[in-house]
Amino acid sequence: MCGIVGYLGKRNAKEVLFEGLRRLEYRGYDSAGLCVVSPSGELSVVRVVGNLDAMEKTLESFDTHGTVGIGHTRWATHGAPSKENAHPHTDCKGEIAIVHNGIIENFVQLKAELEERGHVFSSETDTEVLAHLIEENYSEDLGEALRKSLERVEGSFAVATVHKDSPGTIAAARRDSPLVLGFGDGEWFLASSVPAFLPSTRKVVFLEHNDVVVIDSTGCSITDLDGAEVRREVVEVDWSLDSAEKGGYKDFMLKEIYEQPQAVAETLRDKFDNKKEVIVEDLRMTREEALELRRIVVVACGTSYHAGLLGKYLFERWAALPVEVEIASEFRYRNLVVTSDDLVVAISQSGETADTLAGIREARRLGACVVAVVNVVGSQMTRESDGIIYTHAGPEIGVAATKTFTTQIVCMILLSLYLGRLRGTVTDAEYHAIVDELEVIPKKMEKVLGSSGEVSKCAEKYYKCDDFLFLGRGVGYPIAMEGALKLKEISYIHAEGYPAGEMKHGPIALLDADVPVVAIATMDSVYDKMINNIEEVKARGAPVLAIASEGDGEIVKICNDVLWVPETNEMLYPLLTVIHLQQLAYQVAKKRGCNVDQPRNLAKTVTVE
Ligand code: M6R
Repeated sequence: MCGIVGYLGKRNAKEVLFEGLRRLEYRGYDSAGLCVVSPSGELSVVRVVGNLDAMEKTLESFDTHGTVGIGHTRWATHGAPSKENAHPHTDCKGEIAIVHNGIIENFVQLKAELEERGHVFSSETDTEVLAHLIEENYSEDLGEALRKSLERVEGSFAVATVHKDSPGTIAAARRDSPLVLGFGDGEWFLASSVPAFLPSTRKVVFLEHNDVVVIDSTGCSITDLDGAEVRREVVEVDWSLDSAEKGGYKDFMLKEIYEQPQAVAETLRDKFDNKKEVIVEDLRMTREEALELRRIVVVACGTSYHAGLLGKYLFERWAALPVEVEIASEFRYRNLVVTSDDLVVAISQSGETADTLAGIREARRLGACVVAVVNVVGSQMTRESDGIIYTHAGPEIGVAATKTFTTQIVCMILLSLYLGRLRGTVTDAEYHAIVDELEVIPKKMEKVLGSSGEVSKCAEKYYKCDDFLFLGRGVGYPIAMEGALKLKEISYIHAEGYPAGEMKHGPIALLDADVPVVAIATMDSVYDKMINNIEEVKARGAPVLAIASEGDGEIVKICNDVLWVPETNEMLYPLLTVIHLQQLAYQVAKKRGCNVDQPRNLAKTVTVE
């Protein structure tokens, strides 16, 4: 939800900032801007409506050579996407520029106070109040002015600011919204996430809540909001540069779909000891503690929620525990009955999603142990949870979650097996069958990826349809939900994911020859039931595209199209079937001319409620 960057060094700031913004564009792309500070203190600000392609054109005639600056790519919250509302924002005198990710919740009150004192506002944003507060608080020390201004602010922020009278300084701070500091050779970077400056450095500090950092040519200092110095560990991130670039693919989404076998293998790496016993290091739960658990509560949003829905089937089957799966935005505003006997599993690619984070805080307040399943190293959820399981998918830039979904599924599998072993609720035979199958699953995923030509033919056949229905049962049901979400978010086609058995209680009324039904019908314990549901669909004249197990001679007879997956264990089919649905959504969206990496109205990370 908005990306911010900052640079102070020896290079042309305009170029470094723009490159950084390109890598953060997934966070928002309705407008963008940057400010470069000349050595004499002149602030050159450029703001454009639209994505960074629009900005690139404008920058051709933006003639600055300053080596200090800040930049922003926006996902609008307060004020429509317009040039006036694009960041950086400035004060009345144009002496300050500021970029912000987050929401200043008391901005209405602050704005009224500032206007009473004579400040004139030029945007509808919440951010602009900070520029005016800094204007009032500035007297030679930019860091101090920022600290004083933030004392008045309620809400979330990652901000970076420059002032014409401190031309060689950037002051920045964070609360809730992420901010990372990067250390190069005689140069410093600020960004909402590491990929922004990955070509220049891997040495980073993940700034903490209420940290204020001041950077100048002598280095950087970090303090709390009272000005007391704080020490933060410099860590070396191991993300490769390739992982944050398209590497020959047309889109990040496509690249990330193809990265899944490797991402899954990476998530599985070192998760079994030499006796093939599953290890979930950060959980450190004893057998007694595992036996005392009364329930698992999964909290997540969007695709991560679908991974949680799947987790329910796995936890129930192997760990024999009751499971509730909660949409985080619903979880947080209820009279929650969560206790210390519950294990709360929070799932999030970004580790920043506001509703999931709020759910974590509430669950911990009520005494539950929280384990976060997260992709972004050092993200807020990793700091606020009792345990962490990383998905190791590498940076995911496409707004549509793909490789992080399959790696989240792997984490659900690992955690449920781990609890099942501790609790003695998974049989040896089933446990070893799953562990053996996990070894070969990346190869099977590769095989599924090899049939993109078949998916393309199906996309060609159906891409003009206005509605789709996705059906599944058992572990196929969360995959149907995920398939529908993928299609709607990147192709803007109306799609619904439904438990197949529930179709006859309503959605069947939607069916006719123009509504394709995508049916997850692999060879599993609910296969026969699925076939019955497919027959019901056929009887209403709707075309059926089935995702089925290789060797199923029956399904070709009743379905219009079939996409095959290799046979696997019933509980592992989702790792294969979802790939076809991701590819289908991708191919349909491309045929409809949609921007798959930057779908309209969306942002990769939702740091507002
Ligand atoms: O970062 P998170 O996993 O917490 O994000 C949750 C959802 O916003 C996310 O999964 C969203 O639904 C994706 N765009 C789906 O592709």
